Amino acid sequence: MQADVLNGLRGTPKKMAAKYFYDEAGDKLFQEIMNCPEYYVTDCELEIFTEQTGEMADLILRGGEPFDLIELGAGDCTKSSHLLSLLLATDTDFTYCPIDISASTIEYLETALPQQLPGLKLQGLHGDYFDMLAIAAERSVRKVVLCLGANIGNMPVVEAQEFCTKLRSYLSPGDMVIMGVDLKKDPHLIRAAYDDTDGITSRFNLNLLSRLNRELDASFDLEAFKHYCSYDPESGACKSYLISLKDQLVKVSDEEITFRKDEYIWMEISQKYELAEIDDMAVAAGFAPVKHLLDSKAWFTDGVWVVKQ
Ligand code: AVI
Repeated sequence: MQADVLNGLRGTPKKMAAKYFYDEAGDKLFQEIMNCPEYYVTDCELEIFTEQTGEMADLILRGGEPFDLIELGAGDCTKSSHLLSLLLATDTDFTYCPIDISASTIEYLETALPQQLPGLKLQGLHGDYFDMLAIAAERSVRKVVLCLGANIGNMPVVEAQEFCTKLRSYLSPGDMVIMGVDLKKDPHLIRAAYDDTDGITSRFNLNLLSRLNRELDASFDLEAFKHYCSYDPESGACKSYLISLKDQLVKVSDEEITFRKDEYIWMEISQKYELAEIDDMAVAAGFAPVKHLLDSKAWFTDGVWVVKQ
């Protein structure tokens, strides 16, 4: 973290790696974001997972051969649990393999899921997505990979494309991916989702500075930075920044970082896509896009892709 943060702050423009948002307080703030009225993303995908699991299951089941259902960044698997219970009712032989960077998340799932879904075959894997996918890929059974939550949006487009191509390299023809992607829509709605009136997103961003104060012996004055969010309807890039309110010097570990008044730290990207752009990304990575499962407002898609023969 120290190397990543210092590299990001030494560059122009200054930036942060989004993965460091999620310490204990960051996890709680993200829960609050998901519950706030402006943040539609989670509700839309949950609607897909409650209303359209039947269609999703039909696409997944294909002839009923056994498969591994691998979820990247499973969290508390609120959404996927709807799919799991439907798949269980079909009597198909499948193993649910949640992958999460957090060991406590996997421990929690290993305790909670067997109670919630009796009979579920479960193989939790904690660690880096691709390291764990490499382990999962050793089993010669068909794979269905869930990448939910619009997490792909937290990568710039070029990185997202590389991610999909890398994901493809761990899979075989006939394997599937279900990719949750937030769509371009009314720019006002998008901006509001990342600039909520209660200021939760602002606290979420500032919390990362508190984390650096604690863990990297940094000296950020949280009152001297202000959250700003922009959305560009043309590119679909929604970006959040912390703006320095004055000229200031901030110590991070043993280094001093200079901020000019109005200089920004680019904190996060939440990229939005058109359906055709998602299909192009799938094809370029070696998948055939099969179906877009959309919520009733068509604000979000779970794209179903199959690895081409
Ligand atoms: C986790 N990720 C998909 C969220 C998003 O919508 O980009 C993170 C987030 N950041 C601020 N609000 C939500």
